[in-house]
This record gives sequence, structure tokens and C-alpha cells, in this order.
Amino acid sequence: MPETRVNETSVIHTSDEDMAEAVRQACALLQRGEIVALPTETVYGLAADALNAEACAKIFEAKERPAFDPLIVHIGSRRDLETVARIPEEIAETVAKLANEFWPGPLTLILPKQVVIPDIVTSGLDSVAVRQSAHPVFRAVNKALGRPIAAPSANRFGRISPTSASAVMKELGGRIPLIVDGGACSEGLESTIISIEAREGKKPLFHLHRAGPVTKEMLQPLGKVEKLKPGAALASAAPGQLESHYAPLTPLRLLDHPRDFVPDPGKRYGLLCYRGDDDCPYVRRHAWDRIEPLSPGSGKLAEAAIRLFFAMRQLDEAGLDEIIAQPVSETGLGVAIMDRLRRAATRAQ
Ligand code: TXA
Ligand code: MG
Repeated sequence: MPETRVNETSVIHTSDEDMAEAVRQACALLQRGEIVALPTETVYGLAADALNAEACAKIFEAKERPAFDPLIVHIGSRRDLETVARIPEEIAETVAKLANEFWPGPLTLILPKQVVIPDIVTSGLDSVAVRQSAHPVFRAVNKALGRPIAAPSANRFGRISPTSASAVMKELGGRIPLIVDGGACSEGLESTIISIEAREGKKPLFHLHRAGPVTKEMLQPLGKVEKLKPGAALASAAPGQLESHYAPLTPLRLLDHPRDFVPDPGKRYGLLCYRGDDDCPYVRRHAWDRIEPLSPGSGKLAEAAIRLFFAMRQLDEAGLDEIIAQPVSETGLGVAIMDRLRRAATRAQ
């Protein structure tokens, strides 16, 4: 890695007046085959020109990402979809409906790939994951570059996805030349990923590869949603689906009942809870060293989703021995939140 290490990482802020300059700088680097961290509405992405295999290789190096984990390709406009993916006729109508309904936005479709997409992007698979980001900065860079952008989340492999420029700096500072600071991400969780299976005389089947901001309830009018079973042929090599992922360095334990918490004397414990009011049985159970509520007071899943990775980072940096997490209800966005919490709770072997 040393030869590709960039010692200085600059941060450029975006506001209405200086967005054009940030877009220009990001675009100039991408055109030269460099990698740049950009904000999206879900999490920050580490971007490269998706048609430039050498540039994409730098993403894997900077993230220490194994080569078998494919990248998501972002398109600047709907017209670019067929540049990167082949749309089989039997699902063409469904793809058009999904794109109309959810793009630009946090839905990623797995489709057969076109040959222009280098193998490194798809880890040798014959499918490509595609989405169109809704973030104004990302969209502007995508359009100015005039090419698709490969971008995984801008964290080191297996770690918590960054939802702010400062989180990207902690993950990748010194390894990449530029971070474009577009403020906090409005969704806070990575996109929903599906593949589509046509069915004779029935609504199509959506295989859910990763739960995310576009929920099962939102997809159901257009097809039947089925969670991809681990080990299924379709699951292929997709380590976002690895059991241990999105993990803080501090051990995290999901606790179904606060009464099951028995502290070890002298150990420091943090609590990741939902509302965090004074009468919450988790809050009352222990004199916690640190408490991070996901949706303080109001108990809204959308707010919890936005705050989840930020709160995990805060707890991870608090010098604790263990993080105890309260489960949230598994409906709507709660499915994606619980998915991330379970993976964070699973220690890598
Ligand atoms: O919201 C998001 O999706 C963010 C932003 C930056 O767009 N990106 C993101 O990328 O979360 P990443 O690399 O962290 O997660 C992408 C997931 C991985 O689990 C990868 O294995 C899966 O997508 N994936 C990519 N291409 C695939 C393919 N052809 N088949 C199956 N899974 C694929
Ligand atoms: Mg990721």
C-alpha cells in the first residue's frame, strides 16, 4: 500500500456558492484516475471512474477491501442505465417502474452487466449493482464527469459506514486526496439492494440482498419481496452480507431484555438505546458510562436510521469495554436497522 498512500487529504466544503468549485475539483481528480470521497443521501461513498479499472483498484487498496466484494455503480441519469447494464426483456417493465418510483434514491438493482464494466468492479460476476444517487453533489459530479461512478461506502472494510465528512477522515484520512464535505447524510443507512426474478402470470419476485431505506412495504406494490437466504446461489460473493460487518472495534451486544444485563465490576459500559427517556428500562438498569439514544424522546425509526452509525461511532470512541444495544421493532426501516445491529454484534472470527 505505501506507494499509493496519499499523505495529505484535503476537505472541500460545499454550499450553494462553492458547490461548483467542489464539483470541479472532484471531477478533475476522477478524470485523472484518482479516488475521491463524496456525499450521497445514504452514506459517504469512495468514488472512482467506473470504467477505469486502475482507478477502481485504488478503492480496494484504500479500503483494504477484498477483491471478491463487488462495487456499486452510480449513474448520472436514467439514460446511462443501459450503458452499464443489460435489461432482460422479461423484467424491463419492472425495472422501469422501480426506476420511476425510487430513482434518484436509495435503491440498488442487480442486473446483468455490460462488457464496458471492468471485472474488478463486479469481482468477476456477470451482474452489476446499479443506482442513481439523489444527493445534489454526487449527482453534479456524476453529470460533470459524464461517466458512471463506482463507489462503495467510504470506510475501511468491515467497519462502520461514514455519515459525515469527519467520519470519512477518521476512516481514510491520509489514504485519499480529497473529501467533499456535503454535511450529514439524510438517510444514514446504505441503499436497499435487490435482484429481480420474472414469474409467469405473477408479480415479479424481488430478492432482498440488503435491507435499507427503501423498505419491503414500499417495494411490495411492485413485486413480492423475499429475503435472500444466506448461501443461496444468488447471494454470490457479497460480503456486505457477511455476518460480521458495520462493526465497531468495541464489542457490541444486542440485549433483548434489560434484566439480562449483569455488569462486571470495574468495566465501562455504553448503551445504544432507542428513545433513552428516564423511564426506559434499559436506561434505568445501570449507571452507564455513556448513553446514545437513536431517536431521543420521539422514537422515530427514520431518525434512528439517520443517527445509527453516528451513535455507534460516538460509543466506539468513548473508551468503553462493551456497548449494549436495545433492539428496535422490526417493521419498515426497523428491518434495516436491526440488520446492521446484528452484524455489528457479530465478531469477526
Ligand atoms: O448506499 C449505498 O449503497 C452506498 C453509497 C455509497 O451508494 N454504497 C454502498 O456500497 O453501501 P458497499 O460497497 O459498501 O456495499 C455494496 C454491496 C456489497 O455488499 C456488495 O457485495 C454488493 O453491494 N454488491 C455489489 N455488486 C453486486 C453484485 N453484482 N451482486 C451482488 N451483490 C453485489
Ligand atoms: Mg460498505
